[in-house]
This record gives sequence, C-alpha cells and structure tokens, in this order.
Amino acid sequence: MQRSYEKLLENNRRWVERKRATDPEVFTRLSTGQQPRFLFIGCCDSRVPANEITDTGPGEMFVVRNVANQVVPTDLGAASAVTYALKALEVQHIIVCGHYGCGGVDAALAGGTEGILDFWLGHVRQIARQNGDELERLPDQATRARRLVELNVQAQLDHLKDLSVVREALDAGRVMLHGWVYDLRDGLLRPLAEEPA
Ligand code: CO
Repeated sequence: MQRSYEKLLENNRRWVERKRATDPEVFTRLSTGQQPRFLFIGCCDSRVPANEITDTGPGEMFVVRNVANQVVPTDLGAASAVTYALKALEVQHIIVCGHYGCGGVDAALAGGTEGILDFWLGHVRQIARQNGDELERLPDQATRARRLVELNVQAQLDHLKDLSVVREALDAGRVMLHGWVYDLRDGLLRPLAEEPA
C-alpha cells in the first residue's frame, strides 16, 4: 500500500502555517467555541466538499454527510446533528445539498445494490417509486437520474420537517430550510426550494 496518506499530514502542516500567516489568532479563537450559522447536509461524494464549494472556513458551517444526503427518520446520527445544530448552536439555515451524478441515487434508480448499502438506499428507491410516473415519462436514464437527485433533495426537506425540533424552529421563525443541487460539471450550486418561501 502506498504511503499516500503522508501527503495529508504534510498538507496539514502547511495549511496551519498559511492560516497563521494571515490570521495569527485563528486557532486560539476557534478553540474557544463555535457559532456556525449554517447546517449543511450533503453527500459523502469526494467531489462535493461542503466547505470548499461554499468557500467557507472552520467555524462557519456544521456539516453532516452521508451517502445520498439523506435525512432518514431512524438515523440517530443525522437527527442528533440537526438537534444540536438547532438547540445548542442555533443555526439559522439548514441546507440539504444533493448533487447531479450521485452514485447513490444512480444505484437506487437502477434498482438497488447489495447488503447494508442497499438497505440505506432503499429510502431513495422509495422516492423513485413514489414518483414513478413522472420519472417514467422522462426520455432517458440520465435525465431520470438528474430528476431523482432533485426529488431526493425535496424528500429530505420533508423528512427534516418531520423532526419536531425542526418543526418548532420553523414555527418560531428561527430557521430557514434550503434545498440545493450541486453540479459537478460547472461547480455551481442551484437553489431548488426554500422554506419559508
Ligand atoms: Co452522491
């Protein structure tokens, strides 16, 4: 196995030097606490790095990433992050960010994969089934996949609203929900949905 990971540690040391050069107190400040205004829920895909595509730095965004950017009701990990972000950090915006070219969505559309991943993607397959008529009318599989990426984002916004902690924050006007899609082909984020509108 190549020792490619060593590059990461070297990169880290250089990154620290660069950060300190422009902002000597950055780590002292960050070590005292965080007050991010955003919760970002995105896909694990290595091409969709949350901070990088939004040009944000440490302390600016609380981030949850999982395969196909899902908010599954039984996923205690995501629900805990959402709860902490709203209750303790008091984030003002929750962004669900899907991306075109999502392997998880492709697999769900193709009918499934194997084992535990298949179980996880079953939730996306269900969204495809629920929107079967619309997807069937589309001309080809690539177009269907792009549409399912968008439908998945919308469904995850609905799942968010099913969490009582989100419902309460929405009702109190303390949070906005955003559905975005990232396009690998041009690097741009496209807003799909917003609540309250
Ligand atoms: Co993906």
